[in-house]
Amino acid sequence: MGTEEETSNGGGVATAADTLSITDNRTGETYEVPIEDGTVRAMALRDIKVNEDDFGLMTYDPAFTNTASCRSAVTFIDGDKGILEYRGYPIEQLAEESTYLEVAYLLIHGDLPTQAQLDDWIHEVTIHTFVHENVKNFMQGFRYDAHPMGMLTASVAALSTFYPDANAIKDEDVRYMHLIRLIAKMPTLAAFAFRHNMGQPYVYPDNDLRYPGNFLNMLYKMTELKYEPDPRLERALDILFILHADHEQNCSTSAVRSVGSSQVDPYSAVAAGVAALYGPLHGGANEAVLRMLKRIETKENIADFMKGVKDGDEKLMGFGHRVYKNYDPRAKIIKTAADDVFEVTGVNPLLEIALELEKIALEDEYFVERKLYPNVDFYSGLIYEALGMPVDMFPVLFAIPRTSGWIAQWLEMIDDSEQKIARPRQIYTGDRTRDYVPMDKR
Ligand code: ACO
Repeated sequence: MGTEEETSNGGGVATAADTLSITDNRTGETYEVPIEDGTVRAMALRDIKVNEDDFGLMTYDPAFTNTASCRSAVTFIDGDKGILEYRGYPIEQLAEESTYLEVAYLLIHGDLPTQAQLDDWIHEVTIHTFVHENVKNFMQGFRYDAHPMGMLTASVAALSTFYPDANAIKDEDVRYMHLIRLIAKMPTLAAFAFRHNMGQPYVYPDNDLRYPGNFLNMLYKMTELKYEPDPRLERALDILFILHADHEQNCSTSAVRSVGSSQVDPYSAVAAGVAALYGPLHGGANEAVLRMLKRIETKENIADFMKGVKDGDEKLMGFGHRVYKNYDPRAKIIKTAADDVFEVTGVNPLLEIALELEKIALEDEYFVERKLYPNVDFYSGLIYEALGMPVDMFPVLFAIPRTSGWIAQWLEMIDDSEQKIARPRQIYTGDRTRDYVPMDKR
């Protein structure tokens, strides 16, 4: 296992030795704090006080870089070893053997489905792909150049107004229907946003097609009576969906959990996740990779570019990861999927530059020393571009599969008796008890 702050912690039974002795040098008092699963409870520090009136000690952890906010059995990551597992299944095996919808079932239910369970799951998702005509109408009200991520955030949130019973989040049957709807309708909303940007009529779902094939249909169908997706593109998209389905407590997942902790309906909670993914630090890195490759332009310019990176002028986008200090396991799989896509679409000329950059970086001391390896975004943008996607659509393509991860985490939170409404503390740094100053005296 890697460093504890970077990885999902395994379980473990506390023994008498599993305690932390803390001496408060302000008072000379010593406290014994239990260590459980490699953590101490922040609330245990509240007993550490200088006097009876003292509020007690808190921890200060901006951006929660060393704070476990939940127990989770959904996704395991070991960043040092480059391991990613959903419900204990290695991502490599899932990408090789499974489909996105089966993985969504796994994330949400905790186990792989039997054939009958999978058939039923696929059927339920497939028959819920349509959205109310009014959803289509209000999406048509966006400006012609509206960012598809803004359209997606707004339209997912708006779904809650079509299903007022969605706030019955403690009713298992009701919430099950809504999580099916979320997974089913996400590609429809995403495709509508894309067609809106293109100035093309929206395409209704084709329920004869599989999940990724239907999405390609809604993106690209023109005058043909029946859209027939290329199976290689469909499979590549399915693999990308599998790779992006969950990644434990990242920014958007924490947003879903945090907003969901108020017991709002799942559409509103997932809309918060989409909004978080809209940010360039989360869902936008593959766009930055593409911009970088275009700027480098030819292999001859690579040496100059690399010099700039090593001098600290800029970063090699798509390299490095807060958690993975090894090859991001998803990057390896994506590279293979890219070959399949380019077989259909023709090779993206930027691929040559990307491959060369990777080769140089993996041998260069600067990158080796800092454990900088390609991450999932290094190749995904190239695939999306080959599929005809404008960069604005990249985070949308991320949000579709991440919906199943968000829901799995949301369900886990709802059923976790330790969870309450999320409410961090603060260190107040402002003024106190000032007298109001009338306007003419300021
Ligand atoms: N290119 C060049 N140098 C880099 C890079 C890079 N891509 N990433 C990190 N470094 C260097 C840093 O300058 C630093 O060097 P120093 O020790 O000489 O100061 C060292 O490596 C450590 O970097 P940190 O910034 O401490 O690493 P951190 O874990 O905070 O950052 C991050 C991770 C943000 C992903 C970073 O590697 C980066 O900016 N990469 C490029 C952007 C990118 O690809 N983001 C996608 C992440 S995947 C995702 O979000 C789905």
